[in-house]
Parts: sequence; structure tokens; C-alpha cells
Amino acid sequence: MKRRDLIKLLATGAVMPAASQAMSGMGPMMMGGPGGMMGARMHRTALTPVSGQPLPIPPLYEGDMKAGVRHYRLTIGEAELPLFADAITESWAVQVPGTALPFLGPTLVLNRGEQVALSWRNHLDTATTMHGHGMHVPGEADGGPHQLILPGMDWTARYRVEQPACANWYHPHRMGMTAEHVYRGLAGLLLIRDGSEEALNLPRTYGVDDIPLVVQDRVFDAAGQIHYRPTMHDVRRGWFGDVLLTNGAVSPVFTARAGLLRLRLLNGSNSEIWRFTLDDGSVMQVIAGDNGLIDRPMPVRSVMLSPGERAEVVLDLNGRAGQRLRLRVEGLIAGLRKDALRIEVGKRPAPVSQLPSSLTAPDPVPAPLAELPRRHFTLGGMMNLTINGASMDMDVINERVPQGRWEVWQVRNEGMGMMRMMGMHHNFHVHGGSFRLLARNGKAHFAPHERGLKDTVHLAPGDEATLLVRFRHAAPDSSPFMYHCHFLEHEDAGMMGQFTVA
Ligand code: C2O
Ligand code: CU
Ligand code: CU
Repeated sequence: MKRRDLIKLLATGAVMPAASQAMSGMGPMMMGGPGGMMGARMHRTALTPVSGQPLPIPPLYEGDMKAGVRHYRLTIGEAELPLFADAITESWAVQVPGTALPFLGPTLVLNRGEQVALSWRNHLDTATTMHGHGMHVPGEADGGPHQLILPGMDWTARYRVEQPACANWYHPHRMGMTAEHVYRGLAGLLLIRDGSEEALNLPRTYGVDDIPLVVQDRVFDAAGQIHYRPTMHDVRRGWFGDVLLTNGAVSPVFTARAGLLRLRLLNGSNSEIWRFTLDDGSVMQVIAGDNGLIDRPMPVRSVMLSPGERAEVVLDLNGRAGQRLRLRVEGLIAGLRKDALRIEVGKRPAPVSQLPSSLTAPDPVPAPLAELPRRHFTLGGMMNLTINGASMDMDVINERVPQGRWEVWQVRNEGMGMMRMMGMHHNFHVHGGSFRLLARNGKAHFAPHERGLKDTVHLAPGDEATLLVRFRHAAPDSSPFMYHCHFLEHEDAGMMGQFTVA
């Protein structure tokens, strides 16, 4: 196998019988390794963070039902993160009034079919926005760069929840400031529940056998404060830190039940691509990707997620009472290797001990695909970071998409010709709906978590993805949807465009 092909195989995260052994023997040199294969700079923290604390589980927030509408009241403000022995780290967090989270925000529970009103009050002294990543909602409720929340003001997203059960997430989306606002701690999960997912015997007792894991790298200055100051070089290559946070804690410990454990993984990093593995080499069953369950559980030894992507995996801890295992991550670009979670298996039995053999019936793909209208998107740029040669301009609508029409979107990471090994990784995220990945480089070459509905797809240098899209919700000129690279430094530098749906 050629080195280039091997890298591509690794990048898809797929475990194929013949490849799995080659993958487990793969050292950091192939993966980028410490110091990075692409000129990535990992910034270093001088202080030693406290590690090994119990895993913080973001509290569930189910809102309050009033006159047929479920209301959620949230604030965006400053917080304090106790991460170092002799320093308090100033952070930002989303709070439910009456709670005091140190970082990130509560897990919002949304029920399919319900009308909701999510109210956000901005207590920061700077404007921000709050976007529902992966949500199928009208443009006005999207929380993108056009729905600014000024300091002291409120903004409310009203919509009906109309998509399958999944773990989406919320985060700010202010033009040019997304990376920093997320970096300071603004993010949380949006858990959508529905009847068909609930009819399956899956682990879903939140905090017991169903836990969210938001994985993010960070760097802190000598005073223990969050440090975010990318140079032009960092904007292109990404901003990488040496401290790995899982739900805001370093190498936290979770005591699991003996049975099945469902992990909802979110790559919440700005620019690192994480490969998740178990330290004992055991298999994980992938059950879901970005926007819902896949067709059936698929065994893997690793899961690779680019920024913004999610995957749900189930670990089989039956008969493992008293044992310990570690969920490890390795950064594909800057090469950080850490324990994302230490799991200690207790004696109590878990609610669920066996996975169903099938999960969902995949939606039928409209045929013939060759006749669907096509759009092309090329991510690249020499001096600037662009899509189809243009940098994001809030006053320009780049695409106009008819509502409800199936289309094929070809998205290409232009790489760098012969020197494609030196190219940059990107991904492509769309607002307002989901897509189905039909092919990567013309082949049905993708990882198990990419089998279901998605909103973000990874593009290694030179890769081209073929996406089947359809947008059911309207977005007018005044509140268009975005498509962009979710490497947040790239997004902020202009690798983004806007589209209307009408
Ligand atoms: Cu996760 Cu446009 O965003
Ligand atoms: Cu989004
Ligand atoms: Cu990018």
C-alpha cells in the first residue's frame, strides 16, 4: 500500500479487516506525530492542570411547558474554571438561571414534534450569537452571524423540532469571532429525542449509561488563563493546545455500570482531528453519526472526528466489573495524545446489556442521482481561505437553493497538487439541514459514523465528497444559512459562504 493511500485510509477511520492491523501498528510519525506533519504548532501550558477528577456531566435541562410551547431560558456569561491548583481560570459558560457551570453549558433536551422557544440572554460585554449546529430550523432561528445578541440583550429561537433523535450542539457564531467564543467555553449539547429511537433498547439513562463527551484541546498562559492569540500562520495551520479537556476536565474518571455504555462523542476542538481508541484495543460499536442513528451497529477499533462532527459509540462492559479502561485520543494534525476518559467498571449492572441488531431504515435515495442539479464547492485559497475563490461577505448571498429540492453538492479540498501531503485538512458543514455522504473521491469509502445523516464532513488534502442535500426550511436574504469549514480559524478567516432557501 502506498503511503498516500494509507493516510487516506486512516483519515476515513474505517476499520477493514486487513487494514486494522496496519493501523494498530501505526506510530505517531504516520499520524502527524508530536510537532506535527503539517507545520502545526502545539502551544504549551506551563502549569500542571488537576486531573483525574470525576467526569463532569452537564446537567440536563428540559425547559418548561407553557401553552403548548416548551421554553428554555439560558444566559451566556463569565464563569470560573478550577483547573489549576493555584489559579482560577476565567472562562465563559452557558447557564440555566440558578446553576453555576464552570465551562460549557447544560444539555438541552428537545422532543421531536414539540414547539420550542430557546431564549438566550447575553451577559458578556461583547456581542455574540447562539447557533444550533445540526438543527433543521428556519433561517431566523439558526443563530448564525446575522442573529447578533448584543450585550445585555435577549434573542429567542422559536421553531418546531422536526428531525430524528440525535445529539446536536450549540455554540456562538459571531462573524470572525466564533473560534474565540467557543474557545472560552461556550458550547453544549442539544439532545433530540423521538419515539423511534426510544422504541429501541439502547442505553439512554443520561449520566448513567448514556454520557456526552465534549473533547477540546486548550492552551493556558503562565497565570492559568485561557490563551487564544493566533498568528497568520496559526490561522492557516490551526490553533492547538497541549491540555485536553473532556467536558471541561482533564483525564476525568467515570464509574460505569457493567453492561453497555453509550458515549456521545463531540469533537468540540477548533482545529484538531481526533482519533478515538480504547487502550485495550477492544471494539466499539458505532450506532450514530451527526444527525441520527445509522442503519445497524458497526464494530470499529477507532473513530476519527473532525471539528464539529459527532459519533455515538457503545462499549460492551458486560462481565468487566472491577476493570479499568481508557478512551484515548490522538490528534491527527498536531499529534497530542491523551486519555479523554478513564473508565472504571463498577459491580452494578447496566440497564441494557445487548444492542439491537438493526437501528434505522435508511431513507431512500432519490434516483437517478445523475439527473439531480449539482453545485460545486472548492475549499482552498493561496493567501486567503476561500470557498470557490471567495471569502465570506455578510452582504453577499453566494447560493440560492430551491426549498425541498434534492441536489448533489460536490465539495473539494483543493489540496496542493503534487504536494498534497503538505496540504491542509478542511471539513464542510451546512446549516439548516442534513446531507447524506454518497461518495468520497468517487468511492463509497467512508467510516461507519458517516453512514447516517450528517451535517459536517471531513476532507483530507485533495479529497472530494459527494453529498446529497435537501433543505426543507426557508432562509431569506436577511437570515441566510451558512456553509463553511468547521476548522474554526478557517471559518473566521473567511472560509464560509451563505445561501438562501426559498
Ligand atoms: Cu457548528 Cu456554522 O457551525
Ligand atoms: Cu452549524
Ligand atoms: Cu478549513
